[in-house]
Amino acid sequence: MKKITIPELLKKKSRAEKISMLTAYDYSFAKILDQNGIDILLVGDSLGMVVQGRRNTLAVTLEEMIYHSRCVSRATRQAHLVCDMPFLSYQASLDEAVKNCGLVMKKGHAESVKLEGGEELAPLIARLKNVGIPVMGHIGLKPTHVHLMGGYKIQGRDAQGERQLLNDAKALEKAGIYALVLEGIPAKLAAKISKSLKIPTIGIGSGAGCDGQVLVIYDLLGLYQDLKPKFVRRYAELHQTVSEAIGNYIRDVQSGKFPSEEESF
Ligand code: KIV
Repeated sequence: MKKITIPELLKKKSRAEKISMLTAYDYSFAKILDQNGIDILLVGDSLGMVVQGRRNTLAVTLEEMIYHSRCVSRATRQAHLVCDMPFLSYQASLDEAVKNCGLVMKKGHAESVKLEGGEELAPLIARLKNVGIPVMGHIGLKPTHVHLMGGYKIQGRDAQGERQLLNDAKALEKAGIYALVLEGIPAKLAAKISKSLKIPTIGIGSGAGCDGQVLVIYDLLGLYQDLKPKFVRRYAELHQTVSEAIGNYIRDVQSGKFPSEEESF
C-alpha cells in the first residue's frame, strides 16, 4: 500500500472514496492501525481523557502532544499523521501559534495539525499554509469549548447555528485547510456542508453523509468505560477481554501455575 498524502486524501473525495481515521496515542496501537490500512492517524487531545483520565481535554499540554505524536510517528508508514493542537497553544497570538504548530511537526513528526475553531482562524491558517504547515479544521462540537457549550452538546440545531457552521466551513476552506472534522452536527447539515466543499469532511457523531469517519480508538475497542456516546460503535469489548486475561494471570500466579517449566530458563 502506498503512503497516504494530502493530495491523495483530496483525490479520495473526488473519487467519492470514504476516508477512515482513528485516534492513536502510542507506538503499539499505531502500528496495528497503520498495518491494517487506516488512512489517517490522529493524535487527538482526547488523550487527556482516555489516557490521562482527566474530565476534559483542557489541561493537555503542547509537550504531551509532541511526546505522543513522536511515539505514534515511529509506527506510521502508510497513514497520514495529524496531531491536535491543545487548548491555548494557538489562540493567544499568531506568532506563538505558528511556532507551536511548527514544533509539533518538527519534534512530534506530525504531517499536519488539527485546530478547533471557525472563521476566526482564517488568518492563522493562511499563515501556516505559507510556512508549509497543513491544517485540518474542526467545527461543530468543539471539546475545548465544553464550558462555553455547557457540556458536550450537538451543535447547529437552529437556523442561526446552521448558518454559522456553513460560514465557518466555507471560510476555513478558503483559508486553506485540507480537510475538516465535523463533530456533533445533525446528519442533514453535515451532509450539506460536505457537499458544499471541495475538501473532504471527516465526521464524528455527524451521520453518514460526511466524506470520512473518525472515532476514538479506546471507544471503538470498548476500553474506555466512563462515557458511551450514542455515535460510538464498539467493534470489540476489550475491557471485558482484558479483565478476563488479568484475572487468569492473577489466579495462575497465586496457584503457582505461572511460570511453567517451558517458560523458565
Ligand atoms: O481529540 C480527538 O480525539 C478528536 C476527535 C475528532 C476524535 O479531536
